Amino acid sequence: MARKRVAILISGRGSNMAALIAAAKDKSYPAEIVLVVSNIADAGGLEIARANGIATETVEHKRFGKDRDAFDRAIHAILEKNNIEIVCLAGFMRLLTPLFVAQWQGRLLNIHPALLPSFKGLDTHARAVETGVKIHGATVHFVVPEVDSGPIVAQAALAVRDDDTPDSLAARVIKLEHRIYPLALKLVAEGRVRIVGGRCVVDTPFGGDTPLIVPQG
Ligand code: GAR
Repeated sequence: MARKRVAILISGRGSNMAALIAAAKDKSYPAEIVLVVSNIADAGGLEIARANGIATETVEHKRFGKDRDAFDRAIHAILEKNNIEIVCLAGFMRLLTPLFVAQWQGRLLNIHPALLPSFKGLDTHARAVETGVKIHGATVHFVVPEVDSGPIVAQAALAVRDDDTPDSLAARVIKLEHRIYPLALKLVAEGRVRIVGGRCVVDTPFGGDTPLIVPQG
């Protein structure tokens, strides 16, 4: 089966983007990263993408002022021109309009640094520490118009330590992000993820019987 043509949208350093690029270097991976788009001209991830021989585009949201529709239309046009089949948001810090989300429904993924539906929005690690949750993690989900709310494709969890700070948690969660985003994109690109009643049903053997219990006692 032909590999799916994927674009990654970024705003910053692009470490999740780099993880997806690395996974897609394997010819047997079912998706190829053909384009990286940034809304920030000097996003660090753009350099990484170019160094990996991947085409890049910058669509600065600033140029569009408050006109979100025009910004999203510009991004959509670039994606169409490049025959993109799946879009991955990877630290893309702009809200997308309902029209854009509808145009890419079922083909638009996001990674969020928390176990959704907990800690939607920003500063997830600080809120996890403040709340005292014992288990925290990351989520890959399909994008729907409501922020951080779409069908969940994959999650990874870790134990929170009593002495964790937002930074120490972020450093461990990002490693999980780099594992589950390539996994989730693979499953979606292989057509193994169906959205049924607002939830993802994933055609894969269940291997999740190991409990994570915190504290251990
Ligand atoms: C990641 O932790 C990602 O989950 C988060 O931004 C970071 C980007 O890092 N995304 C969000 O908070 C989306 N609301 P990266 O540029 O190194 O991938």
